[in-house]
Amino acid sequence: MDLGLKGKKAVVTGATKGIGRKIVETLADEGVDIAICSRTAEEVEETLAVLRAKGVNAVGEAVNVRDGEAYKAWIAKAGEQLGGIDILIPNVSGGAGMDSEKNWQRNFEVDVMGSVRAVETAVPFLKKSGEGSVVFIVSTNAIETFAAPMAYNALKASLITYSKQLGQFHGKRRIRFNALSPGPIFVEGGAWDMIKTSQPDFYNATIAAHPFGRMGSAEEVAKAVAFLASPAASWINGTHLIVDGGYTKGVHF
Ligand SMILES: NC(=O)c1ccc[n+]([C@@H]2O[C@H](COP(=O)([O-])OP(=O)(O)OC[C@H]3O[C@@H](n4cnc5c(N)ncnc54)[C@H](OP(=O)(O)O)[C@@H]3O)[C@@H](O)[C@H]2O)c1
Repeated sequence: MDLGLKGKKAVVTGATKGIGRKIVETLADEGVDIAICSRTAEEVEETLAVLRAKGVNAVGEAVNVRDGEAYKAWIAKAGEQLGGIDILIPNVSGGAGMDSEKNWQRNFEVDVMGSVRAVETAVPFLKKSGEGSVVFIVSTNAIETFAAPMAYNALKASLITYSKQLGQFHGKRRIRFNALSPGPIFVEGGAWDMIKTSQPDFYNATIAAHPFGRMGSAEEVAKAVAFLASPAASWINGTHLIVDGGYTKGVHF
């Protein structure tokens, strides 16, 4: 199947490591020009070199999503540099944690406002695309209780509702909005790698609760994101796709 991605232009936040990195590598393999950001300049440069070696145009810089003004300015600049935006993937998260107000503030600024600001800045570009597509990276923590009461879980859930409403509102502008929730994904040096060392019982219990007896990979998530973002998914709008290998137990009618 041709995903219809060749020649499209995508902005992906937090794309130097983990799931974001696999998303941009997968999109570049499909011929998509890419703009990326993260907080670490050397890692941005290293990622851009890998993407350019795949034959696509790749631009990016060190930007902290938490710095609202710099972040919005970067997204607008990325749209100019790429000559448009067809695909937007707000991928950065403030991460999980239970420091109460500190975490609520961080997840609000990074997960929620990092998505809201990206959408508001990118919509003028996405409107011109004619095949605009936004995929919010959420989490299965949003749809089933997991670990502990956390700002991460509750604020990720807000993105599913936001996405659904955007899909209704911007349909006439030919922009699709979808949310995608990965289950536990093992990334070397990532959160689950740290949990494996610091909380081995919790790590092993999570794997034992999985029907496949393993965590997912960033590549498995990236392939689903690429499809959902692509023109091949033209009739999918306002949905929430769970990519967890069957980890969650709820039945959704
Ligand atoms: N891994 C999982 O099991 C899992 C499961 C469900 C959902 N998710 C979601 O998937 C997304 C990616 O997670 P991941 O595990 O791939 O994360 P990751 O491995 O920690 O990578 C995060 C990326 O974002 C960048 N980043 C972090 N904070 C940033 C900030 N404030 N401003 C700009 N860039 C920032 C990081 O680079 P720098 O640190 O250099 O900035 C890196 O490129 C997140 O939304 C997460 O909630 C992950």
